[in-house]
Amino acid sequence: MSHTIESILTENRVFPPSEAFKAQATINDAKYQELKDKAETDYVGFWSDLAREKLSWSKDFSVGLDDSKAPFYKWFTDGELNASYNCIDRHLEEKEYKNAIIFEADDGSTETYTYKDLHDEVCRLANALVAKGVEKGDRVIIYMPMIPQAVFAMQACARIGAIHSIVFGGFSAEALKDRIEDAGAKMVITADGGFRGGKTVALKNAVDEALEKGGRSVESVIVYERTKQAVKMKAGRDITWNDAIAGMSNYHHAVMVNAEHPLFLLYTSGSTGKPKGIQHSTGGYLLNAHLTNEWVFDLKNDDVFWCTADVGWITGHTYVAYGPLSMGMTIVMFEGVPTYPDAGRFWKVCQDHAVTVFYTAPTAIRALMKFGSDLPKQYDLSKLRLLGTVGEPINPEAWIWYHDVIGRGECPIVDTWWQTETGAHMIAPLPGVTALKPGSCTKPLPGIDAHIVDEEGTELTHGEGGYLVIRKPWPSMVRTIWNDDARFVETYFAMFKNKYYVVGDSAHLDTDGNFWIMGRIDDVLNVSGHRLGTMEIESALVSHPAVVEAAVVGRPHDVKGEAIAAFVVLSNNLNEAAEKAAMVQELREWVAKEIGPIAKPDEIRFGTNLPKTRSGKIMRRLLRGIAKGEDLCGDTSTLEDPTILAQFMEKH
Ligand code: WT7
Repeated sequence: MSHTIESILTENRVFPPSEAFKAQATINDAKYQELKDKAETDYVGFWSDLAREKLSWSKDFSVGLDDSKAPFYKWFTDGELNASYNCIDRHLEEKEYKNAIIFEADDGSTETYTYKDLHDEVCRLANALVAKGVEKGDRVIIYMPMIPQAVFAMQACARIGAIHSIVFGGFSAEALKDRIEDAGAKMVITADGGFRGGKTVALKNAVDEALEKGGRSVESVIVYERTKQAVKMKAGRDITWNDAIAGMSNYHHAVMVNAEHPLFLLYTSGSTGKPKGIQHSTGGYLLNAHLTNEWVFDLKNDDVFWCTADVGWITGHTYVAYGPLSMGMTIVMFEGVPTYPDAGRFWKVCQDHAVTVFYTAPTAIRALMKFGSDLPKQYDLSKLRLLGTVGEPINPEAWIWYHDVIGRGECPIVDTWWQTETGAHMIAPLPGVTALKPGSCTKPLPGIDAHIVDEEGTELTHGEGGYLVIRKPWPSMVRTIWNDDARFVETYFAMFKNKYYVVGDSAHLDTDGNFWIMGRIDDVLNVSGHRLGTMEIESALVSHPAVVEAAVVGRPHDVKGEAIAAFVVLSNNLNEAAEKAAMVQELREWVAKEIGPIAKPDEIRFGTNLPKTRSGKIMRRLLRGIAKGEDLCGDTSTLEDPTILAQFMEKH
């Protein structure tokens, strides 16, 4: 059990909403009760009414939920709408000159885009995509830095009914190639490179490399010139963004699509080596994206919302590109890193753009907390009125610091539990209603039927721990794994015979009905709020010619939440410390090349074999113990060769 979990379990402070916050909150006690009652008495009607109220449909739907092919649920099935129309066009009449995006670049320069600007940029690009032959249903890979053009690209795809799949810019050429191939993408939208922490990073090179190795389905590549670094342009395939949009009209009639038409795919790690293409719908996804921004972030017309997530992750989809824009809000986008030019950068951005609602990950809070409270105090954070966290459990110490130092002891903190697959927040406080407990994501949102069950699938009541599951389908749930319906059923529904969506986390309930997330139950690590499969890292390691076998486990880490520990068996044993150190370097770089720098093992240990039972099963429990530095005098009698453990005690 990690320190985080231990301290969470003994946490008992309660922070009820202040009268001042309650008085202005969109969801107050009465509204909450009304929503909950409606969801209980008429579940499908509850979501259908909200879908009609919050989204603009070109064709109304007659079917709310279609569960005839469960667990392949469909929502609002015969309705038609367009996500980009909902995020842009419908706001134009009233908000033409309202800022949609305030962008701050790595170097501190800023740009703003009004809703009209956003409309024009997105339309020009949409027309360029059509000119390049991209059609409704085609897949487009977006591999971009955190710049407004990434959002334009997403919105342009949505506008023409193309299915985008963003690959985080930190993923390697190899990872990019795998995703291009799995998605069968026709186009890649990328940039020459990007700026991060005063440095220039390359992106186009990785696209070239990916397309040299494979990705035959790609016909064209659009390159946004961000850094103006030299890149190779392949004739007939590559075109610059500016050339692509030259002469294109700033008008494009959004293509209305069926509510179930896939809006995007987003690859995420699971317990096998191959990432899963999580497929989201247009109507259901957009509904929960919209609603959770309204309910959980309490967003109102004059808010300035900054979600620090990169668009490469689901958080950047729902809380940068789609949800807030669907509500007609002003968002901040930031290209850089929290510690450049110094660790006051986040707070400076909050001050300079008068951010009112701020959403980030516990790992960032822990990292910045280490620099002390004086730094944030140098900035005017008085505009902040609500804070949020996502990605992993937040330890109470970080929660209190965030609350007191960043939130002046006044801002509610919404700890939002959800996943790539759920599309939007599932368990999270309603800031005008819910009493907060540091470390708990509190209660399921209205309409979200979350439970904790034991091995047999019996629902547990307060105080017990078990598998977190969601019983009723909800609009923004994953529709399938791209190209792999069988894996979809197997991963999320098989465990309890289709009765529940199985989250993959364990959790427990306290006596007040609050949920406390304990961590993953599968072989998935949570490193700095990013999901990484242990098998994915293991397959990267064994693909190195010198590696025979590898096992990867997580261990608690102060800042990152979890760190990656790798146990490696080499074909030729190394004896010299210098040789081992060189091999560690080589393998770390190898993993960075195979997956991306975020997957680099924090430590690598070598042995002549992995600790296995006599039947050949790797004893991961022991490896986790070693990684944590535990004394392993316990039961090792089932081990084939107990001397292996001693070899792995030495870390590099
Ligand atoms: C996994 C999902 C959802 C966007 C970011 C990550 C963990 C997420 C919390 C939270 C405790 C959390 C879970 C979940 N997680 N939010 N508030 N408290 N754990 O998305 O990569 O799909 O990962 O992140 O383990 O299953 P993701």
